[in-house]
Amino acid sequence: MPVTAIVGAQWGDEGKGKVTDYLAASSQVVARYQGGDNAGHTVVCGDKVLRLHQIPSGILYPGCLCVLGGGMVVNPRSLIQEIEELRSLGAFRGKVLLSGRAHLIMPYHIMLDGAVEAKRGDAMIGTTRRGIGPAYQDRAARTGLRAYDMTLPPEQFRARVEQAVREKNVLLERVYGQQPLDAEAVAAEYTGLAAQLAPFVGDDSLAIAEALSAGAQVLLEGAQGVLLDIDHGTYPFVTSSSTTLGGALGSLGISYKEVQRVIGVMKAYQTRVGAGPFPTEQKGEVGERLRGTGQNIWDEFGTTTRRPRRCGWLDLVSIRYTARVSAFTELAVTKLDVLSGFERVRVCIAYRLGEKELRSFTPQSDVLQQVSPVYEELPGWQEPLGGIRRFEDLPGNARAYIRFIEEATGLPVSIITVGPEREQTILR
Ligand code: IMP
Repeated sequence: MPVTAIVGAQWGDEGKGKVTDYLAASSQVVARYQGGDNAGHTVVCGDKVLRLHQIPSGILYPGCLCVLGGGMVVNPRSLIQEIEELRSLGAFRGKVLLSGRAHLIMPYHIMLDGAVEAKRGDAMIGTTRRGIGPAYQDRAARTGLRAYDMTLPPEQFRARVEQAVREKNVLLERVYGQQPLDAEAVAAEYTGLAAQLAPFVGDDSLAIAEALSAGAQVLLEGAQGVLLDIDHGTYPFVTSSSTTLGGALGSLGISYKEVQRVIGVMKAYQTRVGAGPFPTEQKGEVGERLRGTGQNIWDEFGTTTRRPRRCGWLDLVSIRYTARVSAFTELAVTKLDVLSGFERVRVCIAYRLGEKELRSFTPQSDVLQQVSPVYEELPGWQEPLGGIRRFEDLPGNARAYIRFIEEATGLPVSIITVGPEREQTILR
């Protein structure tokens, strides 16, 4: 059972990239299973900081097979940009396999994302405006273009793109009052991009099965988190893909029998970008302290959109839920260092709804908007944690905080991170 899955246990931005990067060193395959360039992780290459949005962080390891899975929606333009950036830094060391089943994000998807959001007014989801929702809509409607289409003879691909643009122009112009796209120009540009990307296109499920037969360690890398899952998240304030373990296996066509570890990655506190319920949100001083000023890569500002993230105390009701729906075998707690300096830290252990106390999470957004958190207060710690590498060396109250999480979830915390650098990681 050589497969380890990395799954976001909150609303995304849990620090999955760092945990993936850490585990990628001992994996021969790293496969991203959903989402597109709405996600982002920061990779440090020497003195350069690179923001990757689609290519898994395994790319920095020579020979590592980096799979962009069939459950993804891939933006050809930004994918080529990422490849070029990595090449220019000498950091394109692994191999890329783009699943032929992955869908393509086209310029009209991005325009529609913006136009639909603008029309929602107060009911806005706060999407990343990367065209994610409209691309998944086309997938479900069976009208999408897939990476396999980029391997067709160029004239055929060009004709498909032209037709797709013409069809979407009707919607853009007549429903959303937008300027239509130049179908020929888009088709010409994307035929050029397709020629560059076609050599990467292949069968992800088969490649992973072959690697597993040859004894490879396989790491599955999720984007966003379970609370943003299309089915299990806080609908409609969710992304359009399946962010759970189930989603990963479906996306890549891997048997559940291969899975050994499912690591739920969670921050030591809670954040969210965009709209939607967030019971433990702290709008005042606590929230600002957790967020930081934005001067550091570690601060709580979106990797993709640079939007300030909403911040709050850790919500263990939601962690117990994400652990259940995504079958976590263990937890990785990131950014424990950010909690240093609080006299007392709070952890939400239940919700109050009127007279009732709820011990279980509900994915019903309307209800979640009304609950108030029931907190347990724990003593804080003052010491900075960035230099600590062993669990035993953490301040007693920080250890007690981790043990509290373990008891409340029934899961071991196997990884703790205390800073952005790779070595600022404590393994247990
Ligand atoms: P979309 O995925 O761009 O459609 O955005 C839908 C929701 O998911 C919005 O609330 C976004 O802020 C959120 N979202 C999408 N990607 C990320 C991410 O990588 N981190 C955190 N939130 C995300």
